[in-house]
Amino acid sequence: MKKSIIILTVLFFVTASSLFMTGCYESKKVADKSGAQLWGENCSRCHNAPGPGEFNNDNWEIVGMHMQVRANLTKPDVDKIVDFLKSTNN
Ligand code: HEC
Repeated sequence: MKKSIIILTVLFFVTASSLFMTGCYESKKVADKSGAQLWGENCSRCHNAPGPGEFNNDNWEIVGMHMQVRANLTKPDVDKIVDFLKSTNN
């Protein structure tokens, strides 16, 4: 009886930790996404995505800070989006 509880406990932790590792794998794929891709996937969720050229470089920085909070994005992801939007300005 006691042995089967130990075996069940071990099985539980093996399953739980494999699920945890899968979670980490997913977030790594997000980290590989480009700024253009992140912009397309996130900035049109709530309103029409503002396109390249609609703001100047200083304002893109402010929009980035503002929308990082709204869209619940990480700083590195927002930096990539802002770099993409700036890269299309002359
Ligand atoms: C969770 C919903 C949501 C997402 C996702 C979102 N926005 Fe917004 N955005 C808003 C709301 C609400 C407003 C208007 C109210 C405000 O200014 O906070 C807004 C306003 C704006 C404005 C107007 C100027 C400003 O700064 O307020 C710009 C530009 C903008 N968003 C750009 C973006 C970009 C770029 C992204 C992608 C990184 C994005 N938004 C993602 C909700 C969102």
